[in-house]
Amino acid sequence: MSTASIEGQGRPAAMQYEIDRDDPWVPLCRVDDIPRLGARRVQRVAGSPVALFRLADDRVHALLDRCPHRGGPLSQGLVFGDRVSCPLHGWTISLVDGAAAAPDVGRTAHYDVRVEAGLVHLLRSDLDAEDPAPGEACLESACGAGACR
Ligand code: FES
Repeated sequence: MSTASIEGQGRPAAMQYEIDRDDPWVPLCRVDDIPRLGARRVQRVAGSPVALFRLADDRVHALLDRCPHRGGPLSQGLVFGDRVSCPLHGWTISLVDGAAAAPDVGRTAHYDVRVEAGLVHLLRSDLDAEDPAPGEACLESACGAGACR
């Protein structure tokens, strides 16, 4: 069973979407439920939260809500262009692929997103997944193996 809940200021009304158990995509919220140039957290049962980010042009991206530096909550960062600035030490992370901008080195997990009829979907397999193993989400992270977890 996929289980996820969505968090954030001005939390949307209870999600009551039809969920097709055979569909690998799970509807989570409306695009409009995510503040433009802001984020919402999707709480997962087995893994750390996923952050949904909405860009100025309404594209939506999803990253593990954990900075590759020391695990800061990216959902609380400042979104600009297609990047987010981590609220803890200011690393800049690409919302397109989760990579830290040079000179910093590292990557957080990026998840596929589908928007259909104004609804944001994530893959059931991503919602049910546990966190990536240390190093899986990082590319020679400057924080050292596993220190970002
Ligand atoms: S934890 Fe994100 S920049 Fe340090």
